[in-house]
This record gives sequence, structure tokens and C-alpha cells, in this order.
Amino acid sequence: MRPRFPNSGVNLHLRGPDLNANKINIAIDGYSSCGKGTLAKALARELGYKFIDSGAMYRAVTLYILNHNIHPEDEAAVASCLPHIRIDFAVNSSTGRNDVLLNGRDIEQEIRTLRVAGAVSQVARITAVRRFLVQAQQAMGREKGVVMDGRDIGTVVFPDAELKIFMTASSEVRAQRRYEELKASGADAEYEEVLANLQERDRIDSTRKDSPLTMTSDYHVLDNSHLSREEQFEMAMEWVREASLGG
Ligand code: CDP
Repeated sequence: MRPRFPNSGVNLHLRGPDLNANKINIAIDGYSSCGKGTLAKALARELGYKFIDSGAMYRAVTLYILNHNIHPEDEAAVASCLPHIRIDFAVNSSTGRNDVLLNGRDIEQEIRTLRVAGAVSQVARITAVRRFLVQAQQAMGREKGVVMDGRDIGTVVFPDAELKIFMTASSEVRAQRRYEELKASGADAEYEEVLANLQERDRIDSTRKDSPLTMTSDYHVLDNSHLSREEQFEMAMEWVREASLGG
């Protein structure tokens, strides 16, 4: 029997030496709650790359602003907070997850609430916030070997990423998935509220002036409304192989 990678079932011989030699950056963009993080994490694990959740960084800034009673639309007040914000990622020793830290404090749970989701897209429209976070994200990708998911990763953060994937799924499928995630984490959420939040975020994210969610012709489109995690992973790994070989 051929040796197999424990996480994926991808045959070793298909990886080949070039996948390890030529590290690439992988940009995954798309609408709210369409499983970008799930795919990004699986690819990073398989390839031994770093996974960066850029949305967590926008959520962290939003949490800071809400906790300091600043209105998310008060651009000047939000911008004046930025020098006081430090965002890091660190592996949580009890869960093994790569959690986001705000000024040294693990805020992974707090940023997933509807309170933060309800304000994050307002905060993400502010150019000063985007400049601040994009600079940090670009520094993380300088050495290559990064899988980053978000809204502007292939268009603004890593326009030269060797592989760009645009993910989407119907809004009902996405809302159902996010609703189940929230319920499983013990949060008190209504399906209708989750659906309304993601539709509103999609609207703001796609229409804002600075770095709107959009796609260029060099993206691979992945609609996962009817795909299993395994199927989408295999599809993406095929693109990774092509991109690593310069195809
Ligand atoms: O997990 P979900 O797809 O719902 O959202 P997220 O990736 O955590 O991102 C939260 C919000 O941050 C998005 O709705 C955008 O408003 C903003 N965001 C952004 O503007 N640019 C990024 N690269 C990532 C997130």
C-alpha cells in the first residue's frame, strides 16, 4: 500500500519533490461563511504552510473598538486607536488551534460573536484600518509558504500569489453552516439573524470603495454548495500542484 498523509488521503507520490521545494503563497477570497477557513487550514496542514485568518484581524480591531465604546463608523476615532492595537497569532496549548491575540490576550472566542460580526464590515471599510492590517499581512507572507483567507488577499495583499481561489456558496447554505457553528459553540443565535448578518456583510464588503470583495481572471472559482470537504480539498490540491509547478 502507498504511504498516505494522515489528514487528507492524498497519495505521497502525487505531492512530488517540487511541492516541497517551491513554496508558494495561496490566497483564498470569497463571501462570508463559505468555508474559506476550513479549506485554508486543511491546505496549510497538508503542505506544512502557515495559515493566516485575515478576517480574525479585522474582528480583533472591531472588538477593541467596541470594548472602548467607539462607534464603528467614527473613522477618526477608529484610526486613533490603531497605534494601541497589537495583533498576534499563537497556538493554543489546550486546543492546538492557532488563536488570535489582541494585545497579548486570547480573544478567539469573543471575536466569533454576532456582536463583533454586526460591526466588523463597518470597521473594515476604513482605509486606515485596511492599511494597518494589509501591511502586517504582507510581512507575514514575505517568506512564502502562507495560506491566507479573506476578501482582498489575491487582489491587494498578495497580488502575485501563485494560487488564488475564490470561494462561494448559496447564502442559505452558508447561513445554515454558520448557524450550526454558533450553536455548537453554545452561542444564542437565530438562523434568520445569521442569514441577515451575512447578507449585509456581503453587501458592504462587495460595495465598499477601498479593496472591495472582487475577483480577477487569475482566480480559480470554487462553488462548494454541493461539494464535500474532501471533494473541495482534492480540487484545491490539484490547483496547488499546478501552481507549484508553475502551471
Ligand atoms: O468568517 P467569515 O467569512 O464570516 O468572515 P471573516 O473572514 O471572519 O471576516 C469578517 C469581516 O472582516 C468580513 O465580513 C469583512 O468585512 C472583513 N474582512 C475584510 O474586509 N478583508 C479581509 N481580508 C478579511 C475580512
